[in-house]
Amino acid sequence: MKSFTHTFFSVLALACMTNADFPGIDREDMIEEMEHFLVDNTGTNSVPIVAAVSPCSNYAGFASDPTNRGEQTSAQWVRFAFHDFVTGNVAAGTGGLDASLGFESDRPENHGLFVNDTLEFLAPTQSAYLSMADQIALGVLVSVAQCGGNAKAIPLRVGRIDASAAGPSGVPTPFTAIEPTLAQFAQAGMSQSDTIGLVYDLSFFLSPNADFASACGHSLGRVHAVNFPDIVGDSPITSTNLDGGVSFDSTPAALDPTGMNEYLTGTGKAGGPLVTSSNVSARSDFRLFNSDSNATITTLAANTGQICSGLFEKMLNTVPSTVSLSDPITAMPWKVVDFNMHISSGGSVRIEGLIRALWTDTAPPNQISYTLVSSSGNGSTHLSDAASGTGSGLFGSTTYYHFVIATDSPGTTGMTFEGFTYNFSDEIFILPSQSTVKSGANTIEIKAAVLTSTLNGGTMTGTLYVPETQEGTLAKKINIVTVPMTVLSTNGDYTLFDGLASVSGVSSVIAKVAVGDTGSKTVKTTLFAQD
Ligand code: HEM
Ligand SMILES: *[C@@H]1O[C@H](CO)[C@@H](O)[C@H](O)[C@H]1NC(C)=O
Ligand SMILES: *[C@@H]1O[C@H](CO)[C@@H](O)[C@H](O)[C@H]1NC(C)=O
Ligand SMILES: *[C@@H]1O[C@H](CO)[C@@H](O)[C@H](O)[C@H]1NC(C)=O
Ligand SMILES: *[C@@H]1O[C@H](CO)[C@@H](O)[C@H](O)[C@H]1NC(C)=O
Ligand SMILES: *[C@@H]1O[C@H](CO)[C@@H](O)[C@H](O)[C@H]1NC(C)=O
Repeated sequence: MKSFTHTFFSVLALACMTNADFPGIDREDMIEEMEHFLVDNTGTNSVPIVAAVSPCSNYAGFASDPTNRGEQTSAQWVRFAFHDFVTGNVAAGTGGLDASLGFESDRPENHGLFVNDTLEFLAPTQSAYLSMADQIALGVLVSVAQCGGNAKAIPLRVGRIDASAAGPSGVPTPFTAIEPTLAQFAQAGMSQSDTIGLVYDLSFFLSPNADFASACGHSLGRVHAVNFPDIVGDSPITSTNLDGGVSFDSTPAALDPTGMNEYLTGTGKAGGPLVTSSNVSARSDFRLFNSDSNATITTLAANTGQICSGLFEKMLNTVPSTVSLSDPITAMPWKVVDFNMHISSGGSVRIEGLIRALWTDTAPPNQISYTLVSSSGNGSTHLSDAASGTGSGLFGSTTYYHFVIATDSPGTTGMTFEGFTYNFSDEIFILPSQSTVKSGANTIEIKAAVLTSTLNGGTMTGTLYVPETQEGTLAKKINIVTVPMTVLSTNGDYTLFDGLASVSGVSSVIAKVAVGDTGSKTVKTTLFAQD
């Protein structure tokens, strides 16, 4: 009965939920962008996010003398997610993982380099496809992966929406008493009452609590003397540890049970500064772990991978009730990237792009055979160019194949290869190679084609999704810029349009055109001619 009621209300809640992604941006493109960031770690078409936490001990932040700083990016990213999420209010459906922390870096409770280091690193790759909050979720997942945790147990979703202002304060500090600490975690959805006393029950694994949250988080990283001299004093600061980092356990670059075992046995770091500080009021981890006579921490030490993955998943998926997250991202064995369309003066259409193969054991062939799909069924079959780029990452190796082919137009609707179908439309499309980004002048010119029959006397409108700096946070906000388009020429069955916009910045801009309700595929303006 209980589960029926639950399901019933969940369905209702879903039906009422608005999808608050940027208007005109398809979920599929958001999913493919996240998949790209997750899979393409090195080599051709790679994104430098995994490299920032490789190895787990790496510091990719922006403070001077980074090698001697005593900082660790993976730990910063995990702490960012915690501080962002824990001020959420699950009952009210507000806050959670929404990057509001960016507006809150000057609060004493958020002391440290971690907020701005994290945002400065991730801001260049923020776009209308992937919010800062989605990138934070990715950052936690890849940190878990690179620090030896059980990342495959954490489903990664997209669709988080960034806050446009600061949220409430309330991150527990080491000096916060245990009752308000537990209350803050409970408000964010991590209850203690669910779990204490049920240590061998399955619900333990499903109901993360403050106790193991802290233990999982504090398997990584350090307390820094420059942030918390009242906890660790000044003595840790040296010329090779400029921020005076004191690790929580003997393996600060491994997500593992070491810290929990050291706490329980009094060996190594004995639980770290938040257990052992000479300032007794700063012993927040001791108060948490000891609050149920060490029962939870003992279980956690024996099941770290499973429990910490469940915790991180819960943390990453605590989002405002207006957000509907996607299904979990899965690595795509076959994919089309950098898809381009061209048109001749006579109106014949060419498609171009890269096929990406993702593989582990068996290398794919040196060319890929693909078949064009049209409204009347399958069209002609062609071979891609020979393999021309390779990469690797968490999910295996990648091989890239360039292809370019003239299509029957109008009426070609996609291409299919190796059991994978990529859809496109030759009804309305941007012409990336004829469009231009001028980074000096900060202008973007869009050229696009639409079937004259679809245009039907109407007009085309362009849209640019421009990441812009905003006051109070290093995260970008997406400004939606409308671009007036004027007729350029008639090419066979198509009418070409042209539009020019001044923008505040040209990086990570996405473009789209539409005639009435008929929209083109969105295109990254990195595919445009650059000058
Ligand atoms: C009562 C709860 C908690 C308190 C009072 C607390 C307090 C602290 C303090 C004082 C630091 C040192 C920061 C610095 O000097 O740079 C720290 C670091 C850290 N915390 Fe927590 N924390 C709590 C819970 C959590 C949770 C739930 C997580 C994640 C799930 C977490 C993840 C981290 C990480 C990864 C670091 C290392 C950061 C770095 O090395 O830059 N903490 N925490
Ligand atoms: C402990 O830290 C608190 C908060 O910073 C500070 O007020 C207090 O003086 C410290 N106590 C000791 C014994 O250092
Ligand atoms: C819990 O473990 C800590 C660290 O080993 C120890 O100091 C404390 O006394 C234990 N608590 C109980 C109630 O046994
Ligand atoms: C088109 O070709 C693909 C791959 O060979 C095949 O799976 C699909 O069924 C074909 N579709 C039609 C409409 O013939
Ligand atoms: C591609 O188009 C076909 C036919 O309209 C549709 O069944 C399929 O779901 C589409 N695939 C994607 C990934 O959108
Ligand atoms: C972080 O950057 C924001 C935006 O530039 C700034 O307002 C804030 O003071 C910075 N915070 C810290 C701790 O440096």
